[in-house]
Amino acid sequence: MRILYVVGTRPNLVKTAPVIGALRARLPDGSHTIVHTGQHYDRLMSEVFFEELGMPEPDHMLEVGSGTHAVQTARTMERLEPLLVDQEPDLVVVPGDVNSTLAAALTATKLGIPIAHVESGLRSFDRSMPEEVNRIVADEFSDLLFLHSDEAIENLRAEGIGDERMHFVGNTMIDTLVALESRFRELDVASRLGVEAGAFALVTLHRPALVDGPLLGETISALASLAAEMPVVFPVHPRTRKMMEAAGAREADGLILSEPLGYLEFLSLMAEAGAVITDSGGIQEETTYLGIPCFTLRDNTERPVTIRAGTNTLLGLDPSAIATIPAALAGRDAERREPPPLWDGKAAERLADVVAARA
Ligand code: UD1
Repeated sequence: MRILYVVGTRPNLVKTAPVIGALRARLPDGSHTIVHTGQHYDRLMSEVFFEELGMPEPDHMLEVGSGTHAVQTARTMERLEPLLVDQEPDLVVVPGDVNSTLAAALTATKLGIPIAHVESGLRSFDRSMPEEVNRIVADEFSDLLFLHSDEAIENLRAEGIGDERMHFVGNTMIDTLVALESRFRELDVASRLGVEAGAFALVTLHRPALVDGPLLGETISALASLAAEMPVVFPVHPRTRKMMEAAGAREADGLILSEPLGYLEFLSLMAEAGAVITDSGGIQEETTYLGIPCFTLRDNTERPVTIRAGTNTLLGLDPSAIATIPAALAGRDAERREPPPLWDGKAAERLADVVAARA
């Protein structure tokens, strides 16, 4: 069996590394080709992840880089198509919901190549989010839909997708976290930054709705106010960094700004944080697994399982809600609950069983 994996962004690498490992072990005589679209290209957004995740180097780099959605998607399709024609894979594996996912799904489907979508069936029901459009298209055209939360089943049925295409295998991003746990637990990045475990807030922001307009300045001010009560550590995504520079936002007292961190360092900080403030999807899940309170600066989430688990709170797309965090933490029920079903470090093995059955 010839399998081709298409990755493009930081979270794609985290979700795909265990899948490649499990499928290479299950199908050692198959061919396993990794294509990196280059949607993320900074060393700190990409290379570092290959090193830490123990993932093989990509066989092909498409170097599409940044651009508008149409440009990024079109460039990926143009550069991927000849590769797929040449390699004739039996299966193209695409993770997540980024523009690389959309482009790969469209290109493969037009060539009649079966697609496996990892992290299928998530829906925010907000089509103004680029990721929602990308997910809907990837699911519609995939043959194997790998689900990581049970709510995905109803979401997909509502779009007319048959149960025979769905496989509830669990969360491959959590596989990576579980595999790295002993390594990140010993790093203690918090003390290196001079903050006390359990007593600081960790922040990540990168979504256009929050960082591309006036809300960014308001969010930085709200974080600076929070920093008067608890130190705030903020590794800044390149998109956010550019917007902060353009808006003239400055470092405020108590805000510890850094470059994007490697994954092990970031997990170490997340596991030791008193609270996490984010607009990311994956971080809502990782905090749920780790039992860390997460406050999500969005109006909706495609991951309601993290709300039901009791770790995640939707603050809304409203920077002023950051001021409510200290009181919420003080009144919080600290009881640690079980992670959602099949978030157990073995999702990629179950996925590999399904794929191997087709070989
Ligand atoms: C993308 C995904 C988002 C995902 C996020 C994870 C889409 C539509 N969005 O958002 O779903 O949560 O990745 O990080 O696919 N840039 C750099 N260096 C890089 C990458 C980006 O400087 O290595 C800058 C560029 O200015 C670029 C901007 O960041 O224009 C945005 O990058 P882009 O890939 O368009 O989207 P992300 O915001 O990273």
